[in-house]
Amino acid sequence: MKLWGGRFTKETDKLVNNFNASISFDQKFYKQDIQGSIAHAKMLGAAGIISEEESTKIQDGLTSILADIESGKLEITDEYEDIHTFMEATLIERIGDAGKKLHTGRSRNDQVALDMRLYTRDEVKNIDNEVKALMEVILRIIKENVHTYMPGFTHLQKAQPVTVAHHFGAYFEMFKRDRSRLADIYKRMNYCPLGAGALAGTTYPLDREMTAKLLDFYGPTLNSMDSVSDRDYLIEFLNALSTIMMHLSRFSEEICIWNSNEYKFIELDDAYSTGSSIMPQKKNPDIAELVRGKTGRVYGALISLLTTMKGIPLAYNKDMQEDKELSFDAIDTVKGCVSLFKGMIDTMKFNPARMEDSAKKGFTNATDAADYLVKKGVPFRDAHGIVGQLVLLCIDKGIALDDLSLDEYKKISPVFENDIYDAISLKTCVEKRLTLGAPGADVMNKVIAIYDDYMKSSNFPA
Ligand code: ARG
Repeated sequence: MKLWGGRFTKETDKLVNNFNASISFDQKFYKQDIQGSIAHAKMLGAAGIISEEESTKIQDGLTSILADIESGKLEITDEYEDIHTFMEATLIERIGDAGKKLHTGRSRNDQVALDMRLYTRDEVKNIDNEVKALMEVILRIIKENVHTYMPGFTHLQKAQPVTVAHHFGAYFEMFKRDRSRLADIYKRMNYCPLGAGALAGTTYPLDREMTAKLLDFYGPTLNSMDSVSDRDYLIEFLNALSTIMMHLSRFSEEICIWNSNEYKFIELDDAYSTGSSIMPQKKNPDIAELVRGKTGRVYGALISLLTTMKGIPLAYNKDMQEDKELSFDAIDTVKGCVSLFKGMIDTMKFNPARMEDSAKKGFTNATDAADYLVKKGVPFRDAHGIVGQLVLLCIDKGIALDDLSLDEYKKISPVFENDIYDAISLKTCVEKRLTLGAPGADVMNKVIAIYDDYMKSSNFPA
């Protein structure tokens, strides 16, 4: 069944039909299609474009279609070109001639622009909820590990000691920015394209303010050609999703490293790891690896839509139908990844002794030894050289700076006194780092209080 047979004298080729059809994927937003049509019908009635009786009949018909799809009584079948055609045909089947008036003053171009926007708007909020739930788990881990010492890395080499709270705090910040990106997108996209018609509006006295309000938009869009051909909001959303995946992927990489036999900083729960079919000793971090791997397909959706859009003249062109499948896939992928990642880190166990031991090795306190000398009047560059010599001596002896005798210290610089041991202890190195944003517990607790407030605030305007 088609909506446009009139000016054709021949049947469409079967392959063309299949190539052209979108119902196999655009049925995903059947609910939004009905939501938009109900608003349109309500407005048509209120504006006197159709009678109130017809308007009510249409709304009731659409409501019954929705109920029957949800209960499984009505199946969306592939014999229609798209979800819009399916809905109109089913409505006419159910309520007769009044159903033929639903499409008055509307085109599938503004209809699909609306449906996809409504669907995306819902998903912006769903993804935001998922990310927020992940942040709750991260915040719990932060609170429980303010004094859990671990090495901080640069170039994947041990650099200076930090805490698990501080390390996880970095991800908390990343996901905070991700949520703020979602809020920005929401604010920019929340305008209603319905009423733009095919591209040039219509001669019917549509009340676009009314439909915008009924559908919870800030207001109607202001240019009908742009309304039917704007997919910026989707590109922005895919960019935000890609960034979320990039963050999850970096986090996943760390989980894989920490979970390895060489590190043993964490142990993943049995429920979130898998075994090998040949090597009985293996417990693999497959979830982290899959999240890292799936990042590629989300980037793919972004690049694909950017490329699709780049050569399209105004206004609507069928190329835009390509905005759906990969976006749906990206949205579902991100929802799954965030949620599984949350379960994985919520159940994993830390190995604090192992992390602390690792933080003590690898000269993570060398900067602090140099700072000790600086505080006693040695210029930093000289202090750097002195500690360099001490490190060399330690490497030679296979020991840590903490294990050198005071005599050995004094042989390289007489400035060293007995208080050097306290100055370079792991505890001092972490807890004395109290600049805002540093790992010291006193300042970390202040940041945690800010995070608690943040979690109570809402991300979207009411
Ligand atoms: N399936 C189409 C899409 O997703 C709906 C709009 C069709 N409009 C048209 N003029 N053929 O973009």
